[in-house]
Amino acid sequence: MDTMQSLISRVSVPPRLLGDPAPSGADFDEIMAAAMSTPDHGALTPWRFITIEGEARAKLGDVFVDALKKRDPGADEAAIEKERNRPMRSPMIVVAVAKIDDTVANVPPIEQAVATGIAAYNVIVAAQAKGFGGIMLTGKNAQDSNVKAALGLDETDEIVSFVYLGTPIKQVSDKRRPEASQFLSEWTG
Ligand SMILES: Cc1cc2nc3c(=O)[nH]c(=O)nc-3n(C[C@H](O)[C@H](O)[C@H](O)COP(=O)(O)O)c2cc1C
Repeated sequence: MDTMQSLISRVSVPPRLLGDPAPSGADFDEIMAAAMSTPDHGALTPWRFITIEGEARAKLGDVFVDALKKRDPGADEAAIEKERNRPMRSPMIVVAVAKIDDTVANVPPIEQAVATGIAAYNVIVAAQAKGFGGIMLTGKNAQDSNVKAALGLDETDEIVSFVYLGTPIKQVSDKRRPEASQFLSEWTG
């Protein structure tokens, strides 16, 4: 598939449709190389990526459960089990983190977060180009200080997304996409 077709046909694959194998070895190295080719104002390299696989996914589930119980001490068993199982749905999670430096005068935090988001998107696109699938998800865990601490992050770090990766166990049907013209205008001064 050529680059244009690959970009136009990109679809996210829900975690429950992501099976083994996750990208590894040279495939994973190339996917991460694509992430490093992200536009980056000031060459700050604000992004960090944390891979979570195998047994560590269950430990992340425990972290999500602890965080939920702190956010909502009255959470019911169903909600707790949902958090416990959340990371188990796909073989690999890559946490995309923006290490925000708010002291850089000409590169405000939003630009650093945007660059990290683009880097995460490059992971998704590169994974798809190699026959893998993925999806960017956030949810309350991405904003949770306890989750950040458990991952060894600072409070000022932003979890831009949990990128779930694996091999699609079935093809995701083509999606109807918005007409670009609806979002396009020309400014002529
Ligand atoms: C930064 C970011 C965070 C996201 N977080 C969520 C999320 O928590 N839950 C969700 O259902 N979709 C989330 N999405 C949207 C999905 O990644 C995906 O785009 C959506 O399911 C539509 O699928 P598509 O990408 O094939 O159009 C997020 C997207 C981005 C860019």
